Amino acid sequence: MVTRSGKTVFMCESCGHQSPKWLGRCPQCGAWNSLAESMTPSAPVPEGQLPPRRGAPQSLLHLKAPPEVRIASGMEEFDRALGGSVVQGSVVLVGGDPGIGKSTLILQALDRLCGETRRGLYISGEESEAQIKLRADRLGLTSPGLLIACETCLENIFKILEELKPQFMALDSIQTIYTATLPAAPGSLPQVRETAFRLVQQAKLTGVATFLIGHVTKEGAIAGPMVLEHLVDTVLYLEGDRSHAFRLLRTVKNRFGPTQELGVFEMSDTGLLEVSNPSALFLAERSLEVPGTVVVPSLEGSRPILVEVQALVSPTSLALPRRQTMGVDPGRVSLLVAVLEKRVGLGFSGQDLFVNVAGGVRLTEPALDLGVALALASSYLERQVPPDTLIFGEVGLTGEVRAVSQPEARLKEGRKLGFHRALLAKRQQERLGEFPGLELLGVDTLAQAIKKVLG
Ligand code: TYD
Ligand code: MG
Repeated sequence: MVTRSGKTVFMCESCGHQSPKWLGRCPQCGAWNSLAESMTPSAPVPEGQLPPRRGAPQSLLHLKAPPEVRIASGMEEFDRALGGSVVQGSVVLVGGDPGIGKSTLILQALDRLCGETRRGLYISGEESEAQIKLRADRLGLTSPGLLIACETCLENIFKILEELKPQFMALDSIQTIYTATLPAAPGSLPQVRETAFRLVQQAKLTGVATFLIGHVTKEGAIAGPMVLEHLVDTVLYLEGDRSHAFRLLRTVKNRFGPTQELGVFEMSDTGLLEVSNPSALFLAERSLEVPGTVVVPSLEGSRPILVEVQALVSPTSLALPRRQTMGVDPGRVSLLVAVLEKRVGLGFSGQDLFVNVAGGVRLTEPALDLGVALALASSYLERQVPPDTLIFGEVGLTGEVRAVSQPEARLKEGRKLGFHRALLAKRQQERLGEFPGLELLGVDTLAQAIKKVLG
C-alpha cells in the first residue's frame, strides 16, 4: 500500500513491529508470516486542520470528577469479574476460544443488565437473527429492552446507536466488524484497531457500556491482539476445558476494579449457571484415601477457592522420564522437584511425574508450592496427606517455607468446607496465633512439612 508520504511499510499483525520490507518472520516477536502491508503517518498536518485544543491543564486537587454510574447485572459471578458492576461508558473486551461460551455469557448478561427498564443492543456479525432467537429461547431470556441486530458495518452500527440510545451494547465479534473508511478486510489488524478505537471513543462520548467479544488465537492472544487490550478499560477471558462444564471468567485488566478476579460458571443446557461455591464443586469428586492428593486454598482475586492438586510419581521405562503438568506451571514444578531432591533427599530420577489440578482449573499462585511439593512427596512415599488438612505456602530454593498473602481468607474458606488442620509457614502461624476451628501447623522447611504430614 502506498501512503500519502509515499512509503510502504509492513507491520506485524501480532506485535505491531514495522519493517520497510516484507519478511517471513517477525524479528521482534518471532511470529511466522505475520507481516502485512500497512500505512505510515503522512507528513505534518497544517495548523488549520488540527483538532481544537481540549482546554488548559487543571489542578488535580480541584478537579471535580463526575460520579461513576455503575449498574450491576445481578449475575454475581459476572459482576465480580467486572469489579462489582458495569461502568457506564466503559469498554470491556471478552476474549476466549471459539465455542467456549462468550456469546452465551454476554447475551445472558445483557438480558439481566437491561431488566424491565433499560435498553441494550446486541450486534452479531456471526449469527443470524433466527440463530440468536433459538439461543435466546434456550437461555430463557426475558428482557423486553434487549434488541438484536445483525450488522457488521461500523457506520451503520453508529446510526443504530444514535436512534436507539441504548445503555449497553455488545459486538459479537470485533473481528467481524469493519469500517467502510478502511479498505482492509474485516478481522485484519488495521480494521480491528480502527473499529475498536472508534467504538471506545463512541462509548466515552455517549456513555454506552460496550462489550467487545474477541476470539483468541491458539497461542492465547486475542486475534488482532495486544492493541485491543491497550484500548479497552477491562479485559476478561472466558476459559475452561471444553471437556469439563466449568467456565472461568478471569479479569486480566480492569481500570475500574481489581484484576485477578475470577467468576465461576457451569455450562448447562440452559446456558451458563453461576457457581457461587466453587470450592465445594471442585472438591466434590475428591478421592480421599489415596496418596498423591492435597487440597490447597488458592486466592483468585478477592476470593479463596479450594482446589485439589494431584501428583503421580511412578517408575519409568523411558530413557527420558516424563514430566507432565496440567493447570500448574511446569517450570515451577521442575523447581519444586529439584528442591525435593536436593533439600529433602527424595530421588525422582527414573520416575515419571504427573501433576494435575482437578477440574481443569489453571493456577499461578506461588502459595500452591507447598501443596504441589507435598503431593509429589506423598505419591513418591506412598503415604497419604490427612484429607482434612489444608496446605499453603511458598517454597524457596533452599527448601524454606514462606508466608503468603491473606492467610485468614484461605483458612476461613477451609473451615467452611470442613477442614480441621492447616499446614503453613511457621512465621505466619505465629503471627496468626490461634484460628478458631482449625489447628495450625507451622513449619520452617519443606523437610519439616513432610515429616509433619507424611510421618
Ligand atoms: P457460544 O456462546 O456460541 O461460544 P462462543 O461465542 O464463545 O463461540 O457457546 C457455544 C457452546 O456452548 C456450544 O458448543 C454449545 C454450548 N451451549 C450449551 O451447552 N448450552 C447452552 O445453553 C448454549 C446456548 C450453548
Ligand atoms: Mg459466539
